[in-house]
Amino acid sequence: MRTPLVIGNWKMHGTLAEARALAGAIREMIRRPRGVQVVVCPPFTALAAVAEVLAGGPIQLGAQTCHHEPAGAHTGEISAPMLVDVGCRWVLVGHSERRKEIGESDEVISLKLRAALAHGLTPVLCVGETAEERRQGFTFTTVEGQLRAGLAGVAAGELGKVVIAYEPVWAIGTGVNATPGQAGEVHGYLRGLLSELASKEVAQAVRILYGGSVKGENVDALVAEAEIDGALVGGASLNAQGFVAIVRRAARAGAASKE
Ligand code: PGA
Repeated sequence: MRTPLVIGNWKMHGTLAEARALAGAIREMIRRPRGVQVVVCPPFTALAAVAEVLAGGPIQLGAQTCHHEPAGAHTGEISAPMLVDVGCRWVLVGHSERRKEIGESDEVISLKLRAALAHGLTPVLCVGETAEERRQGFTFTTVEGQLRAGLAGVAAGELGKVVIAYEPVWAIGTGVNATPGQAGEVHGYLRGLLSELASKEVAQAVRILYGGSVKGENVDALVAEAEIDGALVGGASLNAQGFVAIVRRAARAGAASKE
């Protein structure tokens, strides 16, 4: 049984005051989440402040990336143990914006993912094809390559600790989400690969989230798909009410689809 998971990726948004207010409002509205797990990923500058706001509550803290070394001469970077120190339990790795804008390679992403695991963070490995790759029929080869490379070097026994997010690049921030059918078939494919890399049991336990223009209006149909275990939400996670509506709907749809 996979508990639906909803992660808010705040990206590069928010002053400290805005981050505190957003986290506070979400915490206020989600006092006892039932049948759903909730994580927010503020920018680095707001992690400590948001950690304070969320302390002792059910909503967990994540970061949007980390460096693969624990410490050292890496100007501008933040390490996994630093994230743990500030209260994070989660970290996104390989988000398509970082692959594209920062040039993060599959090799670096795999180092980050292993660093996260080594320090007790849950890595959320993001994979997804561009519009061009989909048009050319390379959707499955693209996500397969990203999944295999991102998980390279992870012991089979550790694979169950990872969360995967399928985020088609063409759906991120565009308002055009993948249809439940399109997402469902990629999720099923990814789960098949996990089965091969680890075992059927582990593959059945790993949560695979969908991300890309998720909002209150489309989350039910997405999470109702048997293979979709929650959502990675960007834009719509910046509004407390909108985000909480997504969380509630994901919990209901998740429970209904597993009945
Ligand atoms: P979006 O972003 O919800 O704004 O499309 C999703 C993401 O990039 O994680």
